[in-house]
Amino acid sequence: MKIAVIGTGYVGLTTGACLAELGHKVTCNDIDEAKIAKLKNGVCPIFEAGLPELLVKHLKTGNLSFSTSIQETIKDAQAIFICVGTPPKKDGSPDLSFMEQVIKDIGATLKHYAVIVEKSTVPVQTAQWMKSLLSKYLKTEFDVAVNPEFLREGTSVHDFLHPDRIVIGTETEKAAKIMSEIYAPIKAPIIHTNLNSAELIKHASNSFLSMKISFANMVAQLCEKTDADIKTVMDGVGMDKRIGRDFLNAGLGYGGFCFPKDVDAFISVLEKHKVDASLLNAVRNINEYQRKHVRDIAKELLGSLKGKTIAVLGLAFKPNTDDVRLSPACMLIEDLQKEGAKVRSCDPQAVENAKKILKDVTYCKDAYETAEGAELVILATEWSDFKTMDLKKLKVKKFIDARNVFDPGKMRKLGFDYRSIGRK
Ligand code: UGA
Repeated sequence: MKIAVIGTGYVGLTTGACLAELGHKVTCNDIDEAKIAKLKNGVCPIFEAGLPELLVKHLKTGNLSFSTSIQETIKDAQAIFICVGTPPKKDGSPDLSFMEQVIKDIGATLKHYAVIVEKSTVPVQTAQWMKSLLSKYLKTEFDVAVNPEFLREGTSVHDFLHPDRIVIGTETEKAAKIMSEIYAPIKAPIIHTNLNSAELIKHASNSFLSMKISFANMVAQLCEKTDADIKTVMDGVGMDKRIGRDFLNAGLGYGGFCFPKDVDAFISVLEKHKVDASLLNAVRNINEYQRKHVRDIAKELLGSLKGKTIAVLGLAFKPNTDDVRLSPACMLIEDLQKEGAKVRSCDPQAVENAKKILKDVTYCKDAYETAEGAELVILATEWSDFKTMDLKKLKVKKFIDARNVFDPGKMRKLGFDYRSIGRK
């Protein structure tokens, strides 16, 4: 099938490359000319496992091409995936102006029937808005579909090709058939819904996962006060099949460009429709508290942080990505700096991106160099490099494990003044 993908961020690029892997002829579009030039030369602009290989492979097979021209991108396309960003506005609701521009561009250019697919995460009823906007501009017949993605950064290629489910929201049989054909090579259940339900499935899923994390963090706070162990408690809770163990790891809280933004956006949708949003407000508050809690443990261990040097291991919002957007590690660094601390840090992939958002951080090549001259080490992102480091080589003995990676007993045996989250 001939497919167009508009927007080559994490979602768009993964979607484009994976659709090419499924055998479709895909053209990806972006307004960023430098990015498109790089992609045409097989240079992947993001760190994402498996993506550079797919890019090179399908530039060669001819299944994947890139363009900055909407006209060229959507020519003969049976489906047009919109994967542009929906960044949050001040009130938490998403800014849909990029989508609006793309819709206008499609409207001005499309001359044949196509399914226009909303892939970006957006509030319920956005596809209906999209449809009415398209009808204003388009003379030709078209359909709108909602096909949310459930990709995790770092494993997005695998997640695309091996999903738990594929959600397809449509209004016509013709559109549902085209969408099903696109995904036919993937062995996963397809859920067909209307447009609004498909949109809600995505917002509700991300909000629910965020809620699981905040729930675990709330119980961790209680564990700290009652001499219980959060890992053991969550192992016990998670063994109930109805609950499941995933996303019950307490720590520095959730970050990245999805959960915080989607929880805020979902709160604004709930409030707009006059539904009580207090559950999700609590989820958000607990998440913010976790970072402050780690800062307060640092104060407990060092007294005032003014003039103290702290080594923060990790900058990315989670391991296996170079993404630092709304990263708890970076936000913690800013909190520590506000208290007057000097921060040294390292990350296997995210240093260059961190440099763009943080000030006055000394970047080092690895954990050992980062710890040199520091009075406290904080593990903020659980990269395997840190999990497997030789702890005996660390000269600093005050250690906050904000991701509960190490065993408290072993750490104390090694002589560390060790603190973690929800564990003694
Ligand atoms: C998340 C969802 O998992 C994807 O399904 C979804 O498609 C994506 O958002 C999106 O909406 O685009 P992602 O943001 O890549 O994916 O990251 P996750 O792996 O879900 O982790 C999110 C945050 O939660 C990280 O900061 C991680 O450290 C934190 N986390 C996760 C915890 O603090 N505890 C846990 O037990 C699990």
